[in-house]
Amino acid sequence: MDFSHYFHEYPDRNGFFGEYGGAELAPELIAAFEEINNAYQAICQSSKFINELRRIRKEFQGRPTPLYHCDRLSRKLGNCQIYIKREDLNHSGAHKLNHCMGEGLLAKYMGKKRLIAETGAGQHGVALATAAAYFGLECEIHMGTVDIKKQAPNVARMKILGAKVVEVTHGLQTLKEAVDSAFESYAQNYKDSIYCIGSVLGPHPFPLMVRDFQFVIGEESRAQFLEMTGHLPDAVCACVGGGSNSAGSFAAYLNDPVELIGAEPLGKSSHLGDHAASLTYGEPGSMHGFRSYVLKGEDGGPAPVYSIASGLDYPSVGPEHAFWKDLGRVKYTTVSDAEAIDAFFKLSRYEGVIPALESAHAIACAMRWAKEHPYGSIVATCSGRGDKDLDYVIENYGFGEEYRFDDDNN
Ligand SMILES: Cc1ncc(COP(=O)(O)O)c(C=O)c1O
Repeated sequence: MDFSHYFHEYPDRNGFFGEYGGAELAPELIAAFEEINNAYQAICQSSKFINELRRIRKEFQGRPTPLYHCDRLSRKLGNCQIYIKREDLNHSGAHKLNHCMGEGLLAKYMGKKRLIAETGAGQHGVALATAAAYFGLECEIHMGTVDIKKQAPNVARMKILGAKVVEVTHGLQTLKEAVDSAFESYAQNYKDSIYCIGSVLGPHPFPLMVRDFQFVIGEESRAQFLEMTGHLPDAVCACVGGGSNSAGSFAAYLNDPVELIGAEPLGKSSHLGDHAASLTYGEPGSMHGFRSYVLKGEDGGPAPVYSIASGLDYPSVGPEHAFWKDLGRVKYTTVSDAEAIDAFFKLSRYEGVIPALESAHAIACAMRWAKEHPYGSIVATCSGRGDKDLDYVIENYGFGEEYRFDDDNN
């Protein structure tokens, strides 16, 4: 497929990427989503909005984030060159702020008072609480009990930033239940609130809007790689939870001869319930108001999912990824917990960068690709920093003493 007109054609007016996407809404929410769509379509072309977002990105977020050549890690693996796009250096520690500042600006434009969202790893919650503080808005974050325990530092950050954290105690008490709960709250408060979904998920226009706000990742890395090397990378990879950092990392390269690889969480094994690899093992279906690939249980509803990385354990994925998968434009592969932990320690010990466990999936994917392509070059998106995961990693895996600073005399 020729991608030169892609952004004019997809999604269509109703939010479809081929057969995926759309907006399956309760009747009371149809008008609310139409209002969001109309507002976004109006301002996304406005130079005032674009310039204000550019100013925020530069002065508040600290963009552009660096593209960094992992020289030591690359040499340990052979002759391939691994680069990482440092979204962990984005203010608040992850890529999530890219869309939260856009959503906050939209809320201001629409005259809303409150931002509502779910969070898994807590990075989206922290980013949204940051945006709310910046714009002077109220913020309500829904989070499962399991994730609240696992990501305690992020819960504290959200509270310090002034957000109300709503604990979700039903079901598996993780990301899916948090989305259910946030939707319910939004349905009751849509007149003065806006739902700021944390990924390229949910009903139209969120998959489009969040991808547009995250486009900056790939746009910057493409220009930076060209400047550093004079050519484009052979491959770009990113981890896929809901799919926002990967969509932003890939979209700028769609029309280039660059291999695009999404790394899904394989968790403990390929058995249903042990992983959250929706594109690899799921099938077309609907949940949370949009159509995509879904991991289904025996009753046909969303299956229980698991990943060591709280931000990756969601039983579906953004609809644009489903479209890219069917087109064959992006390859989706899986990375296990064990491979992610190995990458977590290697990037920490060999490069001095402690990645989030989500991002460690992308690093593991790049390391595998590097071994298979001895003279290639790959950019992996380091979507966030690992501070939030330290307690969990130390308790379960220690300090990584086996990854010694030894065999590098170059
Ligand atoms: C650091 C980090 N990376 C990746 C993700 C996964 O989300 P997405 O696939 O939308 O980028 C999360 C989600 O919380 C995250 O916190």
